[in-house]
Amino acid sequence: MSSAEPTPFSTHQIDLAALLETYGSPLYAYDGATIRRKAGELKQAFDGIDLKIKYACKANTNLAILRLMREIGVELDVVSPGELEMGMIAGYNASQITFTPSGVPFEEVRSAVDAGAIVNVDSIPLLEWFGQTYGNTKPCLIRIKPNVAAGGNAKIMTAHADSKFGISVLMLDEVLEVVKKYDIKIVGLHQHTGSDIKDAEPFLKVADILFEAAKRFPDLEIIDLGGGFKVSYLPGDHVTDMELLGKNISERFNTFCNEYGRKLQLWFEPGKFLVSESGFLLVKTTVVKEDPARNFVHVDSGLNHLIRPMMYGSYHHILNISNPGGPLKTYNVVGYICETDTFATDRELPEVRQGDVLAFLNAGAYGFTMSSNYNARLRPAEVLVDNGNARLVRRRETLEDLLKTQMDI
Ligand code: LLP
Repeated sequence: MSSAEPTPFSTHQIDLAALLETYGSPLYAYDGATIRRKAGELKQAFDGIDLKIKYACKANTNLAILRLMREIGVELDVVSPGELEMGMIAGYNASQITFTPSGVPFEEVRSAVDAGAIVNVDSIPLLEWFGQTYGNTKPCLIRIKPNVAAGGNAKIMTAHADSKFGISVLMLDEVLEVVKKYDIKIVGLHQHTGSDIKDAEPFLKVADILFEAAKRFPDLEIIDLGGGFKVSYLPGDHVTDMELLGKNISERFNTFCNEYGRKLQLWFEPGKFLVSESGFLLVKTTVVKEDPARNFVHVDSGLNHLIRPMMYGSYHHILNISNPGGPLKTYNVVGYICETDTFATDRELPEVRQGDVLAFLNAGAYGFTMSSNYNARLRPAEVLVDNGNARLVRRRETLEDLLKTQMDI
């Protein structure tokens, strides 16, 4: 099946009901086989290219997931000292880790570089500091803002002219001036356009912009085109056609390398593409409320566990795994937080009864990592199913976890 076709939502192989029974509710469950398959699809699409996949681990930093990535030859993209530490605890060598900061204190960059990671420099002041601090002794990449608007919604577009990220492609003269002043060793150009990008066209456009910019830097080894591939949240959704994208970008990349006179490495740093479909948030129905206006299904979770629907209006498909064949009814699925934490509005689901288990799909990316303790609620446990084996990879939080940083207990 081509990756542009809608995802068949019924193909997950793991027994979600049994997991909830064993590990309790609510629960994040991940399927390792899906992550392996997705990484394989990406490698396959760029077959013949010197490709490096740098997993954007902000999507999911569970150490078991990081270890799985390492095992399958996927390297890491991190955005903070905490993510860098986690990568190293998971067994990565710092040289396999790229630090892609966004206006962070320069001391964070120093600690990443001194640990052995390579940095994507995202501003002229940081480039100045980098030059003063390291001269030509440490390599770095430059994060270019190509001034291209693309992505699923305004909050997750990162490369348009008004975006805070990176150094505008219109400022290459200034970049080159600083590079020359300190003899900085620029080994790569980087850009990340945004998230949820379906069409090949924005990827091709930014690639061309980067290739053009690259001609002004004589010693490059790397072109890093970021992440942002669209995955299927909605049954019938069309997603980035990896096969087609791979073919088109590879062609242009090879032409560029010929013109440049050297074979370069091509890097991508996907988050969602690798882990979104692998994850499920499993919850239990607490109350079914038949109101004159709506039928409400309350669940033992909320925006504290999965904030994407409330933050971006994102669609997450929901399965009623306790009553899959029930008659269809229309519901608002809501959380237990004292906010309007609506997961889904006017959603048709097989009849939901109190105590039924619901599964939110595509919860592997930006689910747990964006969770919080709002309302003094505890975060769920996490389970990884891999090689036919289910394993608790994070225990459920306790009240003690919540209290341990407070001074006045
Ligand atoms: N590289 C950089 C520099 C990034 O900022 C990001 C995501 C990625 C790679 C990975 O993008 P992905 O392949 O996952 O689309 N929380 C939002 C998505 C924000 C992504 C932020 N940066 C969401 O849940 O939709």
